[in-house]
Amino acid sequence: MSTLLSLRDIWVEYGDRIIIEKLDLDIAAGSFVSVVGPSGAGKSSFLRLILGQEAPSRGTILLDGEPLAPECGPDRGVVFQRYSVFPHLSALGNTMLGMECAQSPFSARLFGAARRAARDEAAAMLQAVGLGDSLHLYPAQMSGGMQQRLAIAQALVKRPRILLLDEPFGALDPGIRADMHALIRSLWRDYALTIVMVTHDIREAFTLGTRVLALDKRRHDPHAPHRFGATAVYDLQLRERPEDHAPENDAEAPLPTSITID
Ligand SMILES: Nc1ncnc2c1ncn2[C@@H]1O[C@H](COP(=O)(O)OP(=O)(O)OP(=O)(O)O)[C@@H](O)[C@H]1O
Ligand SMILES: [Mg+2]
Repeated sequence: MSTLLSLRDIWVEYGDRIIIEKLDLDIAAGSFVSVVGPSGAGKSSFLRLILGQEAPSRGTILLDGEPLAPECGPDRGVVFQRYSVFPHLSALGNTMLGMECAQSPFSARLFGAARRAARDEAAAMLQAVGLGDSLHLYPAQMSGGMQQRLAIAQALVKRPRILLLDEPFGALDPGIRADMHALIRSLWRDYALTIVMVTHDIREAFTLGTRVLALDKRRHDPHAPHRFGATAVYDLQLRERPEDHAPENDAEAPLPTSITID
């Protein structure tokens, strides 16, 4: 598989606090990378780097071999754990807003034929995430799972190549989570996405990912906790292609019996 993203000697520092140190990674097109690690390790910072929301203090990020544009591009979509949809807009309005921002970033308004085409596309995307009957509902009228489906539709309607997920299912109960796993897996296949997903749930990381990456500090200085940053302490390639994927039923997915952390 070809390399989509390359991170070379990436550092994230705030003043003298080192958050990420010396991160070197290649992310293959079409892969599904699960990112795990303790709270505060820098997982969300890592996603912000890829999203272009934050620049590294040192190092280079390449997208298709070119330096990453230092702002959120339409090639990258993001879904956070919660609160990523606008409460004053319906499902359709939220999804169309994603497209309007991508197509006309300054006015965020589409007119006439462009608006009708955007509406049809947004409705089709809501259908694809299972919200075809809920186009006119507002977020407050939706369950948590429905709101996350909406956030996914909003991210995907821009047709990103990379979908970034920051604990997207963390607030959902187990049954709904299993439904969301099936959804994200089918969207990943159907839209040929590259996915980077942060999760605290190790089983979720192994069930969904083609690769599991753990971010943590290699070294600790008890007198100066921010002297060292996190990096990839283990990086496990689980499977090459979506076809090699674990069973659809999460409960049947094998977990590795032991993992060696160097
Ligand atoms: N703008 C900022 N200025 C200073 N420090 C920051 C800033 N943003 C993040 N940090 C620090 O960077 C560290 C990593 O934060 P980050 O949110 O990436 O962790 P995380 O791994 O996502 O944690 P969690 O699992 O709790 O979501 C934290 O110690 C945080 O305080
Ligand atoms: Mg985080």
